[in-house]
Amino acid sequence: MKRMTYMSSFARSLSPEEIDQIGAHASRRNALDGITGALLTLGSVFFQIIEGDDRAVDDLYTRVLRDDRHTDIICLRTEPNATHRLFPDWSMNVFDLDQTVGGGVVQPLKLLLGRMSEAQHIIESYTQPAVSRIMTQGLNPLEIPLKKVERVVLFTDMVAFSTISDRLAIEDVSELVSTYLETCSTAIARSGGEVTKFLGDGVMAYFDADAADEALQSCLDIHHELKLIREAAPVRSARRLIYSGFGLALGPVIEGSMGSSVKMDYTIIGEPVNTAARLEALTRTLNTPVLMTEAVARATRRRWEISFVDAVDLGRDHATPVHALAVGAPEGMSMRSAATQFLDVVAAPPS
Ligand SMILES: Cc1cc2nc3c(=O)[nH]c(=O)nc-3n(C[C@H](O)[C@H](O)[C@H](O)COP(=O)(O)O)c2cc1C
Repeated sequence: MKRMTYMSSFARSLSPEEIDQIGAHASRRNALDGITGALLTLGSVFFQIIEGDDRAVDDLYTRVLRDDRHTDIICLRTEPNATHRLFPDWSMNVFDLDQTVGGGVVQPLKLLLGRMSEAQHIIESYTQPAVSRIMTQGLNPLEIPLKKVERVVLFTDMVAFSTISDRLAIEDVSELVSTYLETCSTAIARSGGEVTKFLGDGVMAYFDADAADEALQSCLDIHHELKLIREAAPVRSARRLIYSGFGLALGPVIEGSMGSSVKMDYTIIGEPVNTAARLEALTRTLNTPVLMTEAVARATRRRWEISFVDAVDLGRDHATPVHALAVGAPEGMSMRSAATQFLDVVAAPPS
């Protein structure tokens, strides 16, 4: 038999009557399916334990995942080989802890669960979406074996960031980086990509091997959105300095949990990662914002204005043919000059 423990957040405000309804329906249905367990609510958080035959638990958890009354579902533990039921007499007992008064253990338990869900929300904001998704599925990311897969890797970062950040106030640097990372992550996620790391002002992301078009689309979207941000920025705003370069490579990578006892990442490693990073750096030298390998250019299905630029030494034993997407580099100046052209105005103390 199997036992799963998860927590989730209300998707909207739910009245005590609605929670009673969930409990009553669960209890009736679970009695038929041989499921037992407990459902606790506190504030706007559910904690639930479900136990029963493997198939019945899996079916229930699949239905629960689809239920739009709650969201941010994180499975805290899956016990695939549970030997006995912890709640044999409860087809689903509901405890609304907000309505429960009592001394003894109730008060500290409420406090503990409340703190746990606050901590969970903080940890969640620092967690890669891929890890949260794996945990939502009831899997332990640390136990998922590494796999060799093809991926489109995307690297992007801000042009001349070190020069710019040296001259700006901390708040301006922070606002600039947040604006940049938000713009990038939103566009990448919208195109189905996975942001795996922020490296200061840089972003490393990957897409499925058949999603070269989506990867290019995300670069185009970011490029256009940054232009809009620059144009809408007041004269003294650091947002006028926000330019970006993109490098894309496609090939086999190893994907999975990697790291140390201090910190783990669910990420990818391999040659395309290094190549994408080097191409991204090369955008400054070649003064064109989006560079990609031939494999990426070939993997596209949509019509893009892509042209061969040069065969470049990217630290491999042969020169790598590099292709560029026509997205309009800054006119009459280098990307670096464009990014720093208003630096004196933006960084100058107000007169
Ligand atoms: C927090 C939460 C806990 C739930 N627990 C159960 C449960 O233990 N058993 C159950 O059958 N449905 C439970 N549900 C409801 C399921 O998500 C789903 O709506 C229901 O099982 C569909 O039942 P039906 O196929 O009989 O319509 C729960 C829903 C929520 C939001």
